[in-house]
This record gives sequence, C-alpha cells and structure tokens, in this order.
Amino acid sequence: MTTNKASLPPPVNLIPIKRPSNEEVQDTTSILKKRSKDQEKQKNADPDFTSLQKRLLQQLNGTIPISEKIIFRYLQDSQQEIDRIIKQSVIQKESHSVILVGPRQSYKTYLLDCELALLQQSYNEQFITIKLNGFIHSEQTAINGIATQLEQQLQKIHGNETKIDDASLEKISSGSLTEVFEKILLLLDSATKAGSEDGDNADGSSTTKITVVFVFDEIDTFAGPVRQTLLYNLFDMVEHARVPVCIFGCTTKLNILEYLEKRVKSRFSQRVIHMPQIQTLDDMIEGVKDLLTVRLEVSPLASNWNDTMEKELSNPRSNLNRHIRMNFETFRAFPVLKNCLTPLIATSQNFDSLCSAIKSCAFLELYNTNQLSNSLTGRLKSLSDLELAILISAARVALRAKDGSFNFNLAYAEYEKMVKAINSRIPTVAPTINSGTGQTTFSIDNTIKLWLKKDVKNVWETLVQLDFFTEKSAVGLRDNATAAFYASNYQFQGTMIPFDLRSYQMQIILQELRRAIPRSNMYYSWTQL
Ligand SMILES: Nc1ncnc2c1ncn2[C@@H]1O[C@H](COP(=O)(O)OP(=O)(O)OP(=O)(O)O)[C@@H](O)[C@H]1O
Ligand SMILES: [Mg+2]
Repeated sequence: MTTNKASLPPPVNLIPIKRPSNEEVQDTTSILKKRSKDQEKQKNADPDFTSLQKRLLQQLNGTIPISEKIIFRYLQDSQQEIDRIIKQSVIQKESHSVILVGPRQSYKTYLLDCELALLQQSYNEQFITIKLNGFIHSEQTAINGIATQLEQQLQKIHGNETKIDDASLEKISSGSLTEVFEKILLLLDSATKAGSEDGDNADGSSTTKITVVFVFDEIDTFAGPVRQTLLYNLFDMVEHARVPVCIFGCTTKLNILEYLEKRVKSRFSQRVIHMPQIQTLDDMIEGVKDLLTVRLEVSPLASNWNDTMEKELSNPRSNLNRHIRMNFETFRAFPVLKNCLTPLIATSQNFDSLCSAIKSCAFLELYNTNQLSNSLTGRLKSLSDLELAILISAARVALRAKDGSFNFNLAYAEYEKMVKAINSRIPTVAPTINSGTGQTTFSIDNTIKLWLKKDVKNVWETLVQLDFFTEKSAVGLRDNATAAFYASNYQFQGTMIPFDLRSYQMQIILQELRRAIPRSNMYYSWTQL
C-alpha cells in the first residue's frame, strides 16, 4: 500500500521542555543548607529553649526514661492492678491470666509496656516476655512465634547454652497443637533447670524459676467459633505448667467472655480489667498538665513555662482550656490532643513564640479543621454526581431491608428505577424535520443519563474504598456467639461470592444523608423514601 505524502500529518515541532538547570538545583540545596544553618544558629543561640522543646516533645511522644513515664490519674487504678498481678507472677511465681478490655488507643499496650519495662530493671533474669498479636499470627504461626521468641529470650538470659537450631525448632512446631505445647513446656522446664544448676538446695532452684509473661494482643481473633485450641492450651498452661505463666490478653470486644468455649472459660481466671475512660473534664486538664509540665532541672526556662501553661489551663476562658473542653466533648482522647500539640511545639522558634502559640492555639484550630475534613461527611462532599446517586440508592435499599444489608445488584436496580422515574417526568421533544431544507433538528436531551451496570462497578468500588460501605463479614461487633459463627462462616464463603452479590452494610444512613446533602443538589429528593 502506498501512502500519499500529502495525507501525512504535518511534522510536529518538538518544543524542548524546560528543565531546571543545575544552577537552580544548586539554589534549592543552598537554600536548604542555609535554613538548616539558620536552625543550627538558633539552636546554638538558645540552648535553654532547645532543651525545653526537646523534653516537651519527648514527653508527648512517650520517649522519656521509664521511671519518669507519665501515667494519667484516671489510669492509675488499672495500672496498680496490672502492677500487682505482674509482680505476683514474677516475684512470687504465681500463675495468672487476665484480659484487658478497652477501645483502641486506651493505653492497654502502654501500661503493659511500662510495667514490664519497670520490672525489667530489677528482675531482668526472672521473666521472659512473649508477644503475640491476633492480627499477625494464625494458630500455627503463633506457635512458631512462641518457639522463636522463647529461644531468643532464653538465650539472652542463659547465654548460648539453650540454643535451638532450625531443625529442632521445626521439631518443636510439628505435630498437633497440644503436643507442641507439651514440647514447649518441657523446653521451659529444662531451661529453668539449666538456670538452677548452681543452686544446690531446693530453695535455690525455686528462686531461679523463670516466669513466662504472654502479652496477647487482639486475643478475640483466636476466640473464633471453630476450635479455640491455642487459647485452650495457653490457659491450660496457667493451671498445669510447672513454670509460672502469666497471660495478658488485650481486646476491644466488651463481650469477650461470651466467645470463649466452656473448656477455655473454665481455665481462665475470669479476671477482666476494663480500661477506664476519661470521666471528667478535670481528668483531662490534669492529664494535659502532666504531659506539659517540665521538671525544673531540665531547663532554666522550665519554671517560666510551667507557670504560663498552668495559668492557661486554670483559666476557663483561655483558648487552650476551650480547646481541651472541645476535645472532651467530642473525641475524649489524649492521642488526638498529643498529635496536635506536637507540631505546635516542634515548629516554635523560641520561647516567646511557643508561649504565644499556646496562648492563641490558632494551630490547634487549624489542625482540628483539617482533621474534620476527612470525616464521612467531608468525604461525602467530594463525591461526584454518579457516586452520590449510587450511594443514595444503596442507602434506600439498606433502609428498606430487614437487616440493613444490600448488594450491588439491588442498589443498581434502585438507581435504575429512580433515574427512570425522573426521566419519565421530564418532557422530551421529538426531533422535527425542517420541510424546507430537509435537515433534522435534534432537541437537546435533558434527561439524566442512565449509566450501564458495568460502568457503575468502579463507582461501587470507589464507594467501598472510601468506607461508605463495609462488607458484612467485616463488621466487628457481634451480639452473641451464634452471630459470630454465622459471620465467620460467611467470611469463608465471602471470597467465592460473585462481586455483585456480596452483602454490604452502610456506614451512613439515609436520614444522615438527607442532612449532609445540600438542598440544591439534584438528588436531594431521593433522600426520602
Ligand atoms: N511503648 C510506648 N511508649 C510510648 N508511647 C506509647 C507506647 N505504646 C503506646 N503508646 C502511646 O500510647 C497511646 C495509647 O496507645 P496504646 O497502643 O497503648 O493503645 P491500645 O489500647 O493498646 O490500643 P489497641 O487496641 O489498638 O492495641 C498512643 O498515643 C500511643 O502512641
Ligand atoms: Mg495495643
């Protein structure tokens, strides 16, 4: 085939894209250097402020030495209880099992870490800690985890004499769970004996018994409906092992005891510690005071800073106080407060600017506004028309359904119905033919476009990604054991269910949509059944 030269498109002149020359690059680096130099200068200029700032940041991040760690007043009761139990098992060699229940970020891990680190200082060789996490481990990997961690920790205590090589590790973790546990117990026993060889009398050997402390995060993931073998063996260890064992389970599920099988429950000590919540505004203010109070020997500016901060905190009209009150009435969470205080302190250039920043709290306001823009309503405002239409259709279906669940097919059918209903109300003008010229004039069609099902699929995925819908099996809370059973069976099938039949639940209901969507929106009328 020959091509005509004339039919070829004209040659395109390539315009060189302007790239930053090396000089410009150098410029930015020099600016950065200059800045860091400036900062260094500033640091050199006011070492008192730098040490104050550093200390404040350490207190907020929790990186100060263990003996000085801040335990909030409202947490002190639980801390004492944990402390008592750990000491009983490490010092008096008793076996215990406890479950800590509390929402996310309620200082469960923090308290346990603090206590263990404190004990580590004086009873370093008396106990080993094994950490498990239900989100990371399955029953099999948990066993491997226990074996490896045991090896590492025992090695730390005894030097190399109890080294477990890979082959023996495999030997340990082969066989049924109960067998594996027996092997682990044997290993523990021998390890303790190895430690007690130097003690001749019976008393000497009893003092060298090593306590095994298990910290088991998300323990509820192992309290599934199938067979709670791991939990059974762990709790059984508490009762029957010759070494003292202490188990701390952490969970967010209030009804954790309901999940436990009978045989597991009977071996559990029934001791549940509920993490306390902040009850009063005073607790919260006291907590902020603890976080921000700096010991006098840290910096000469410390006393000045403490006075300023206390004055702001005690004045109910100050911005800081107002801000804390707002947090108390909404999130009621220290992590949120800590997060917004950290950049405020970190970006302050000198003592005066730090004081004025804490007085005005403008940064905290900005931070809060920014945080809120990621809320569900914030995300709702970012949706396109089609996304919004699908979301509302899904909400309508969910509201009508008995259990509030729906799937893609149902939602699409609703969307289709609604669009057709609107379109049927919009009068369409039939195309007319001009008799003179014979040309057809098309009227502009102002009906709403009905998107095809396959086009809507990715809209659906976006909505799932934005957390408007949650897959039914993923919803954490279950009222009782039967619900848990059905849910986990569902999860098993969940992977095989075709895309458009998967069951979802709404995170926002129709009434809430009605309040969040502006009246001027085209789909506002859909927000009512
Ligand atoms: N070892 C630690 N040192 C310093 N700060 C910590 C430590 N562990 C947790 N924190 C801080 O303590 C706060 C509470 O978090 P923590 O992890 O204790 O909550 P949690 O109750 O264990 O939550 P989850 O249920 O998610 O495990 C957070 O602000 C966290 O940053
Ligand atoms: Mg935790």
